[in-house]
Amino acid sequence: MQRIAIFASGTGSNARKIVEHFKGHPSIEVNLVVSNKATAPVLDMAAAHGIPTLVLKRSSFYETEELLAQLRGIDLIVLAGFLWLIPDYLVRHFPRKIVNIHPALLPKYGGKGMYGKYVHQAVKAAGEAESGITIHYVNEHYDEGRVIFQESCSLEPEDDAEAIAQKVLALEHRHFAPVIEQLLTINYRS
Ligand code: GRF
Repeated sequence: MQRIAIFASGTGSNARKIVEHFKGHPSIEVNLVVSNKATAPVLDMAAAHGIPTLVLKRSSFYETEELLAQLRGIDLIVLAGFLWLIPDYLVRHFPRKIVNIHPALLPKYGGKGMYGKYVHQAVKAAGEAESGITIHYVNEHYDEGRVIFQESCSLEPEDDAEAIAQKVLALEHRHFAPVIEQLLTINYRS
């Protein structure tokens, strides 16, 4: 079995799609769901599927390497709406084994502070004719690791930030789990 740990801070609609995608999969399983928020709905979703959960404390996440013991046996860390910067020790320990999804076409609209509605508001303000998703490896800087997959959607002039968010989220739900599956089966190089 190849084991996935999902890190998520919020609602976890992508996490849910990933959990559902791999339910009953012959060689890949979601083994752990990690959140930085004890009240995050994603933890309830995981518990409902019988998946172990872990709540991070900021100090131990950044000042110790205790988490590594909990991640033993994990083959891929998937960031699905996880807002904390990944510390160096984790990147070093999981080289090309941490992936993130960003709700825009990087390198545009990435970096610190560019998350959630702020991304879509910036896309709207710039009058872009398209937006999309980027799935990329994670390094020590926000949104700068090598791109694995991108898909775009066209935007209409009347689309507001909320409408853009809906279009982009639909792309995330369609592509994230299959791309993870491909990474772990066809292309995966450790
Ligand atoms: C997604 O748009 C993802 O791209 C971003 O955070 C959002 C998470 O949504 N990084 P959800 O929690 O999966 O519903």
